[in-house]
Amino acid sequence: AQRKQVDQVLALFRLTREQLVGVRDKMRAELEYGLKRDTHLLATVKMLPTYVCGMPDGTERSPTFSPTERGNFLALDLGGTNFRVLLVKIRSGRRSVRMYNKIFAIPLEIMQGTGEELFDHIVQCISDFLDYMGLKGVPLPLGFTFSFPCRQTGIDKGILIEWTKGFKATDCEGEDMVDMLREAIKRRNEFDLDIVAVVNDTVGTMMTCGYEDPNCEIGLIAGTGSNMCYMEEMRNIEVVEGDEGKMCINTEWGGFGDNGCIDDIRTQYDKEVDEGSLNPGKQRYEKMTSGMYLGEIVRQILIDLTKQGLLFRGQISERLRTRGIFETKFLSQIESDRLALLQVRRILQQLGLDSTCEDSIVVKEVCGAVSRRAAQLCGAGMAAIVEKRREDQGLEHLKITVGVDGTLYKLHPHFSWILQETVKELAPKCDVTFMLSEDGSGKGAALITAVAKRLQQAQK
Ligand code: BG6
Ligand code: GLC
Repeated sequence: AQRKQVDQVLALFRLTREQLVGVRDKMRAELEYGLKRDTHLLATVKMLPTYVCGMPDGTERSPTFSPTERGNFLALDLGGTNFRVLLVKIRSGRRSVRMYNKIFAIPLEIMQGTGEELFDHIVQCISDFLDYMGLKGVPLPLGFTFSFPCRQTGIDKGILIEWTKGFKATDCEGEDMVDMLREAIKRRNEFDLDIVAVVNDTVGTMMTCGYEDPNCEIGLIAGTGSNMCYMEEMRNIEVVEGDEGKMCINTEWGGFGDNGCIDDIRTQYDKEVDEGSLNPGKQRYEKMTSGMYLGEIVRQILIDLTKQGLLFRGQISERLRTRGIFETKFLSQIESDRLALLQVRRILQQLGLDSTCEDSIVVKEVCGAVSRRAAQLCGAGMAAIVEKRREDQGLEHLKITVGVDGTLYKLHPHFSWILQETVKELAPKCDVTFMLSEDGSGKGAALITAVAKRLQQAQK
């Protein structure tokens, strides 16, 4: 009888092929709304123009850099697990990019304090980094990877629409993040930096991978949050003037479903996770597919199963009541096939959960069901975009590369293959290669900065 009850819960997370096709098709419809002038402001998938139009050296994909693209660049990488400051050196010749970086912590009080405090902290970290590298006083161009939805009217302008994930600093939404950074640099009055570009992490990742593989026209993050960007034909982007060439669109697909269009597959546990989050009602797809929330879904299920007397001897411990205990790295460990159940119990013990052998089996199954659904949903979204690209180009068959980053994709033992299988299944006419970004998104941000700087100088 107990088994039956557990199975009932797990069944809620099993999606049929029809359901996944439904997700793919709804995603496709939302992507189209977001591009149209009449509907873009209402679209749940925001489809934000990024003003990134090509690779280094303008339109040709030259493996070497033009003289004006060479030099030293500073890059910031804010919004993933780690905040990083990087120095990126671009020289001539192939494989001519070198990087030095340092990770800094952003305390919770800063993530959720005032905007001024957040940017002062960022500038403090830049200052430490420049001291460390012995570069104080050297004027440098800066590329800012800022992994949140921004409305851009140029490569160096990004108005924060709303915070997502774990950030909630005040007085930032509706403001230009480049201005806020510039003002914080001015307040400190210690060094001179020229902020040339602000880019989403998906865009930076696409560019990092695109430098190696010219077929890379999509960027995917499966990490703390979930998002995708891709190169779109200018003629399809109604909100930007011009019909020639392509521009990268930051889809912000995490917001898919915020109009209720996937509520039929959301469970009570998804709703509980949403209600307990910093942004209730928002980013519904992200909350079913990304690292920051998967552990929370697992925790809600475990609480429910315990209440039903099916786990942990029916005792809900203080630990189980604690938000955020199941980080991506724990889920990944629990689901690792190489791990014996005894080790699963040990991990649970580390988390302060006393389990029997049967408990650990159920916990592992719950984790598997939640992460499998996440990978399939992400795959259904990806199938929508590659199919769109194939049709837009009038191709019978499309070959395309996706640049990917994020701890969920990198650490989880099953996420990446289930994602890839799902794309194959739901977009059979596309041959999609997933390429892991080994260098994060900072390298891509620096490449974008190098191009933008050259164009800026050409205009002068
Ligand atoms: C990093 C990129 O490698 O991956 C970041 O440099 C990105 O820009 C991050 O935000 C995403 O993964 P996670 O898991 O850290 O959110
Ligand atoms: C969130 C952000 C998005 C970012 C993604 C991955 O969805 O809104 O901008 O790309 O997380 O970090």
